[in-house]
Amino acid sequence: MQVLHLDSSILGDASASRTLSAALVAAIQRRHPLARVVYRDLVEERIPHLDGATAAGFRPSGIDRFDAATLAEHARSETLVSEFVASELIVIGAPMYNFSVATQLKAWIDRVTQPGRTFKYTEHGPVGLAGGKTVLVASTRGGMYSEGPAAAMDFQEAYLQAMFGFMGIGDVRIVRAERLTRGGEIRAAALQAAHEAIGRTFDPAAAA
Ligand SMILES: Cc1cc2nc3c(=O)[nH]c(=O)nc-3n(C[C@H](O)[C@H](O)[C@H](O)COP(=O)(O)O)c2cc1C
Repeated sequence: MQVLHLDSSILGDASASRTLSAALVAAIQRRHPLARVVYRDLVEERIPHLDGATAAGFRPSGIDRFDAATLAEHARSETLVSEFVASELIVIGAPMYNFSVATQLKAWIDRVTQPGRTFKYTEHGPVGLAGGKTVLVASTRGGMYSEGPAAAMDFQEAYLQAMFGFMGIGDVRIVRAERLTRGGEIRAAALQAAHEAIGRTFDPAAAA
């Protein structure tokens, strides 16, 4: 089994989502010791934003003359989508920034959302091609969106559910820590609860 582990927090060692995504992967490895884990730090890697010439590598658009730098980006898109398609389990550290996902995670999504590879257009509308996978999202946010007045401003978890659903992945599970900027005690309790949820859900040994 191949596990694809992505991190997208810009906060380095102070990141909450990086801690939670690492705990998820550790729990998976305890349960599946032979799992092969492929890791990408999307902040360190700096995948460039999608532009027309790069998109033309997997989405015909009339642009057909490419310089060497663009061809290298086409190769990068191919590497990223192949790796995604080959992975059964995708673990994503996904903080909320400005009500949505990190721009680095969006840049990765823009490379793997490819017609003919992860979805296709049909006369009945788009159909996902990446089914059969599970996506585990370590979701962190400063405020409270799982309920209450700000729920309608959650374009982070809702976007990830919609985006992976579009690619045919209905099994998107969220491990959430929210209210992380509401003070030290609230933050610690939220993180502890998220770690306990990981233990209960993904690690039978820890839950026993
Ligand atoms: C640039 C930036 C934008 C943020 N925007 C939001 C936001 O829109 N809503 C929110 O609740 N928290 C927001 N936060 C707080 C983060 O969601 C919170 O710090 C969380 O822990 C980030 O996850 P990380 O620690 O893994 O980076 C923002 C933080 C940063 C650094």
